[in-house]
Amino acid sequence: MERKRILTGDRPTGKLHLGHYLGSLHNRVELQEAYDCLFIIADLHMLTTQPGKEKIAQVAGHARDIVLDYLAAGIDPEKSTIFVQSAVPETYELNLLFEMLVSVPRLERLPSLKEMARDANLDVMPFGLLGYPVLQAADILLPRAHLVPVGKDNEAHVELAREIARRFNGLYGEVFPVPEVMTEGPALVGTDGQGKMSKSRGNAILLSDDAESVRQKVMGMYTDPKRVRADIPGRVEGNPVFVYHDAFNADRDEVEELKARYRQGKVGDVEVKRKLARAINPFLDPMRERRAQYEGRPGLVEDILMDGVRRARGGAQETMELVYEATGLYGPQLLKSYSLPLIGMGMPALPFC
Ligand code: TRP
Repeated sequence: MERKRILTGDRPTGKLHLGHYLGSLHNRVELQEAYDCLFIIADLHMLTTQPGKEKIAQVAGHARDIVLDYLAAGIDPEKSTIFVQSAVPETYELNLLFEMLVSVPRLERLPSLKEMARDANLDVMPFGLLGYPVLQAADILLPRAHLVPVGKDNEAHVELAREIARRFNGLYGEVFPVPEVMTEGPALVGTDGQGKMSKSRGNAILLSDDAESVRQKVMGMYTDPKRVRADIPGRVEGNPVFVYHDAFNADRDEVEELKARYRQGKVGDVEVKRKLARAINPFLDPMRERRAQYEGRPGLVEDILMDGVRRARGGAQETMELVYEATGLYGPQLLKSYSLPLIGMGMPALPFC
């Protein structure tokens, strides 16, 4: 029986951190055993808020960093398909057809888009940003994915992809499975305790940080602000150092013992943090080892991406055949009657694999 397909991914805006690992990478590593997983590096989505040429010029580097983070976390390129969105021109084709199936007010109601516009300091909504979830639906439905693991902030986008799939199937015929959302773990708090871990807020511990950077970041962490001296009882709940101890320290007895002493005002922040750094570093060590193995092989990341693009395009082309057949759109029918290649008109067709 054919395995069910999963699609999810990230925008290439920077290196991944502990929050990504806990929320999604860890889950993806397990999913690849039971599903055909596609991981998209969504550079076209990045354009919706950052279309400048200097940003585009950084994509290759960021994509490389993300691939190395994936590999370090345990994503296996033999089992999973990692690819770059802008190398799959069928995305643009399907996106346009989907734009006809969604209303503007439906998109305007999504809080995530307003937030993204605000975070990017945009005072008006770009047309493309309004279309962000439509493009995401194209990513999801192009491989006819069944499951989409995403964080809370993206759940409404998957709901829209479901609506688009149903709308398309109803208008033209059954082409798409209606994808299910798979909710990922909650976001991890940043080292500053001020909100979720995010590279742009400077409160992130990166998967690629070395041991000394981890130590420094941990020693600078925010703890219980009311606890001005070590002999004052402290609050453990919601305290970032203990959130991290719970998430990353394999020595459960040590964690419980520290919590007990913290609550009684019998341990200083410095000891709690030293032990935390000593727990996070061994947690990252296997990732560091895997990363070093991959990094040492020149051209490997590009080969993995190119292989992923080939696989992703194979599936995308199959889907577009079905889409053009179902819609009966004139241009592709015309080309077909002259036996010209239908698909990927903007870029050379790649062989299926
Ligand atoms: N929107 C995702 C983000 O917040 C990235 C993304 C693009 C994605 N296309 C996707 C996620 C398709 C899941 C499925 O960065």
